[in-house]
Amino acid sequence: MKMKFVYVAIAISLGVVSLKAQQKAVYLDDNQPIEARVKDALSRMTLEEKVKLCTAQSKFSSHGVPRLGIPEIWMSDGPHGVREEILWDSWGNAEWTNDSCTAFPALTCLAATWNPQMSAIYGKAVGEEARYRRKDILLGPGVNIYRTPLNGRNFEYMGEDPYLASKMVVPYIKGLQSNGVAACVKHYALNNQEVWRGSIDVQLSDRALYEIYLPAFKAAIVEGGSWSIMGSYNKVRGQHACHNDLLLNKILKGEWKFDGCVVTDWGGAHDTKEAVFNGLDIEMGSYTNGLSSGKKFAYDDYYLASAYLKGLKDGTYPMSSIDDKASRILRLIFRTAMNRNRPWGSFTSDEHYNAARTIAEEGIVLLKNESAKKKEAILPLNGNKYRSILVVGENAIRRLTEGGGSSVLKVKKEVSPLAGLQAKFGDKVKYTMGYASGKPVYDREVAPDFNTDSLHAEAVKQAANADLIIFVGGLNKNNFQDCENADRKSLALPFGQTELINDLLKVNKNMVVVLLSGNAVEMPWIKNVPSVLQAWYPGSESGNAIANIITGEVNPSGKLPFSFPVKLEDNAAHSFGAIAYPGDGVKEEYKEDILVGYRWHDTKKIPALFPFGHGLSYTQFKYGKAIADKKDISGTEEITVTIPVKNVGNVKGKEVVQLYIGDEKCSVIRPVKELKDFQKIELAPGEEKIVSFKVGKDALKFFNETLHDWVVEPGAFKVYIGSSSTDIRSIVNFVFN
Ligand code: GLC
Repeated sequence: MKMKFVYVAIAISLGVVSLKAQQKAVYLDDNQPIEARVKDALSRMTLEEKVKLCTAQSKFSSHGVPRLGIPEIWMSDGPHGVREEILWDSWGNAEWTNDSCTAFPALTCLAATWNPQMSAIYGKAVGEEARYRRKDILLGPGVNIYRTPLNGRNFEYMGEDPYLASKMVVPYIKGLQSNGVAACVKHYALNNQEVWRGSIDVQLSDRALYEIYLPAFKAAIVEGGSWSIMGSYNKVRGQHACHNDLLLNKILKGEWKFDGCVVTDWGGAHDTKEAVFNGLDIEMGSYTNGLSSGKKFAYDDYYLASAYLKGLKDGTYPMSSIDDKASRILRLIFRTAMNRNRPWGSFTSDEHYNAARTIAEEGIVLLKNESAKKKEAILPLNGNKYRSILVVGENAIRRLTEGGGSSVLKVKKEVSPLAGLQAKFGDKVKYTMGYASGKPVYDREVAPDFNTDSLHAEAVKQAANADLIIFVGGLNKNNFQDCENADRKSLALPFGQTELINDLLKVNKNMVVVLLSGNAVEMPWIKNVPSVLQAWYPGSESGNAIANIITGEVNPSGKLPFSFPVKLEDNAAHSFGAIAYPGDGVKEEYKEDILVGYRWHDTKKIPALFPFGHGLSYTQFKYGKAIADKKDISGTEEITVTIPVKNVGNVKGKEVVQLYIGDEKCSVIRPVKELKDFQKIELAPGEEKIVSFKVGKDALKFFNETLHDWVVEPGAFKVYIGSSSTDIRSIVNFVFN
């Protein structure tokens, strides 16, 4: 009897063993909850394997766990498309032939749409391209606030206002991550210039930090659910942002409860102890130990590599630190590379080109549009009225998806402005370059190959005989002209464009200026140029989008995401000497505090050349009187403000109705008004819509440094509703008790 029992017991235990063996290990099972997979994987890993997860293994990949079949993480720049393949261990291009992508418009153009739906379309499409290229993290979007027009990377960001950037970044991240590709919102934080970007130590108040520079990152993490975030190169209050106790432990992982991965900017780590204790998870770089570059394959020298392992073994660093980092990295892997339910993506499809063109069309801003002889405006352009249209400017033919630094793209297609105009107007269109720049190189300016005087003279000569001039200029992502690692040196248009525009106007006043740039530029000729378009860097469909706007096939509806100052000194960051910009080489003080952009122009009564939120249409919108349903509110009550908006022109158009809040009396300085809501509506000719906004306590708050919290002080407030930050059409007063 006893023996029989033994046999049965053995049989059962064998059965259990084989059942367990057949059962997939929890971490390998897609149907298991991610946290269970993380826990299971962690329990199977050695200390060495956990530490390996925390560092790069190549230029754009970090370690997996080969023994357990846990894949590597593959990353790629962003944010405007998927960068071409880079060599394993140098910044050189791999010269593949299957990685020419779709270039979507630069993010200032996306912000200029003031349309979160465009942002959702953008994120989904660029995520499909990243997924198709087998990338697990797309290094973007960028949401650093536009503090100075000289910042070389403003074109990669979403403007000067924290509310607009917050609203526009969330749908991009959700769309991107719907493909099972992680966003990596960047550069966290206070990377608002490129001069001394690797070391400048930014000093600023808590109010400026919380009211201006953090909101877009907070929205990206808390509302957007970004699975990773990139630390910036600079320091904040004395500590490098990539291992900064305040930014990473207290705010990001503390207040915002971030469960994803903090990734350095490339070579952004500088200290093992800080990296271990101050919230860094993955250290990326270019064979550098963070201090010196050029040591080949120095990945083992990385701050989170052998030094960290050694410290864990000898007890300098607690095991809890590596378990937290490894858990976050595993969570990222299970959300991306080991998520078998994610879609397969797509690449350079018509759908993506249509998305790129639609976003560009919605983002192009009509700054000015009058007639040369006080008749009807020049735009939209009626081709039948002109025998000859002269297109002038190197930007009419230059590939602007090139240059600019890490956001550079190798594209399958880029329709130039000239090609777009020729497609519309045929051989009525003549072209002359007019001005020229050197080719895009990374760390210096190169002289143009042309004789610029003869280009200039030839353009003036041809302009005298043309019916209309379309000047296509701006910046071009060359060094110092909207480029990473090199701020601009002035607000002026480069390469002799200002002089050329003035000389062209002397022989022909019938001119449209199309500016391609990611930044504001000076326009001393503005009074004499009847029509001006701000067309950003529109990407693969550039020429088609610009031509559709010029002909009126699409009615422009973009609004400026940042102010265009008349001159550099009118900008806040340039009003407090070198210590406020670019700093003294060691530190920099944001002396303008919360008064950034239109907050400065409004409060200091310095009119902008073109204000934040400005953008014209080919139709006109009449606003009625704003009405509030209450005179006062308290606690969690909300005011409903309604306003009729009517299209009184004769073409369909979209208008961005903007709502700003002004605190009439407060114990601390507050801007005259701050953007707290907007709605983009489409109206047919003669159509009227009642636009309705809800205003609650959150829209009234400011950050109280003593309480370290957002508060609202009872008193009188104004609701400003308008078509730009200065074009206010109606005001409502109310009291918060
Ligand atoms: C660059 C940029 C960052 C980019 C990274 C990888 O230095 O600052 O935006 O994603 O390195 O190219």
